[in-house]
Amino acid sequence: MADVLIVYWSGTGNTEMMAEKIKEGLENNHLVVKMATVDEVDPSEVSNYNKILLGCPSMGEDELEDTEFEPFFEEITGLIAGKHVGLFGSYGWGEGEWMTLWENQLKLTGANLFQKGLIVNYTPTEEDDELCVVFGEAFAKL
Ligand SMILES: Cc1cc2nc3c(=O)[nH]c(=O)nc-3n(C[C@H](O)[C@H](O)[C@H](O)COP(=O)(O)O)c2cc1C
Repeated sequence: MADVLIVYWSGTGNTEMMAEKIKEGLENNHLVVKMATVDEVDPSEVSNYNKILLGCPSMGEDELEDTEFEPFFEEITGLIAGKHVGLFGSYGWGEGEWMTLWENQLKLTGANLFQKGLIVNYTPTEEDDELCVVFGEAFAKL
């Protein structure tokens, strides 16, 4: 059994790149990571983890992707109270408002939101990659 579950959706690979770098940060601190796309995970699986990272880009009108990720998130809302949950994702324009909305939704579940959700504009730069690694390293230390 892994120490941390990372579940993400990524249409063009940007959020996936973030997930890879966050995973690297977790592994730098010797955690075992299960990383999977949202279609590969049964929502009930989150019950097995105390540390969960969720990744989804801004889609629609500053919303979570609504065919796979949003339904998954809805399904896990009753299962994550008291757990450490971190959020991340890529966005295209504006200020990344979807993340603020998502953070607020997460807080309503009773989960412990880790830091602020990590957001990257479009494709992660080298600097963004480093921020993702640091995010993973800090999450590992919880
Ligand atoms: C259908 C669609 C809708 C989008 N809507 C938004 C949006 O409302 N706000 C925003 O900041 N970016 C929006 N974007 C831009 C994506 O968030 C951005 O391209 C992101 O890097 C995609 O991440 P991914 O490569 O992990 O799929 C949209 C992109 C697509 C394809």
